[in-house]
Amino acid sequence: MALIIPILVITFIASASANFYQDMDITWGDGRAKILNNGELLTLSLDKASGSGFQSRNEYLFGKVDMQLKLVPGNSAGTVTAYYLSSQGATHDEIDFEFLGNLSGDPYILHTNVFSQGMGNREQQFYLWFDPTADFHTYSILWNPQRIIFSVDGTPIREFKNSESVGVAYPKNQAMRIYSSLWNADDWATRGGLVKTDWSHAPFTASYRKFIANACVWSSGSSSCSNNPPSNAWMNEELDSTNQERLKWVQQNYMIYNYCSDSKRFPQGFPPECTINTTA
Ligand SMILES: *[C@@H]1O[C@H](CO)[C@@H](O)[C@H](O)[C@H]1NC(C)=O
Repeated sequence: MALIIPILVITFIASASANFYQDMDITWGDGRAKILNNGELLTLSLDKASGSGFQSRNEYLFGKVDMQLKLVPGNSAGTVTAYYLSSQGATHDEIDFEFLGNLSGDPYILHTNVFSQGMGNREQQFYLWFDPTADFHTYSILWNPQRIIFSVDGTPIREFKNSESVGVAYPKNQAMRIYSSLWNADDWATRGGLVKTDWSHAPFTASYRKFIANACVWSSGSSSCSNNPPSNAWMNEELDSTNQERLKWVQQNYMIYNYCSDSKRFPQGFPPECTINTTA
């Protein structure tokens, strides 16, 4: 398949160690988002008056992006921590992680979605095999022309393959920025909105560290790719048989919702990418 990238200038620059001052802009929250420890740590917080958020300075067209997150501990019911890639406009592309909080001791839901040219409705949801509030864990998005792979601590949890051959638009022409926010969504987040945010526990705080983008930075119509190690391996990366097994393990044991098996929602038949994306 031909890569349709106008000008691909490849420069071999090892990705610099994470510095949030350099990589991210705090975009809202009136002081509730903070960069700490010389740029190594970023925290978002939410109270009754407002949430907060940040976005990457760079826009990317393909890449492998890792971030460590430590989610709101204790009673986080009603809160949502969103961490995603998105382009702009009505026909935007988007690759989403959303962490839906819960009562103390009850499991977070990791909600995922993929939008192409403004069309989403491709939700898959998971429980995690660890407590995501006890420590930092790495959440990764691999985005290349053939596939999007969501991973948690290096274990793939979802693969969205390029299904253009069956008429499904694939995100490949619009550069995306990284966004993250912590906000109140107690109308739907926890047990479908039954459990509300308990503001007596505010402020709620989520933390970020070790952002690594091996990615192609988009700027004024062309992209340049930084690599560490200096090869574009991630551009052609796919799941080897070990990782296919691990993906299956997650899907069998931790997946709690898959739009591709929700026959009530698609009485006329599943979207075409569902046949291509089976891991069975
Ligand atoms: C919260 O805990 C309840 C009870 O275990 C569970 O049904 C639900 O899926 C959990 N997560 C969310 C975000 O509602």
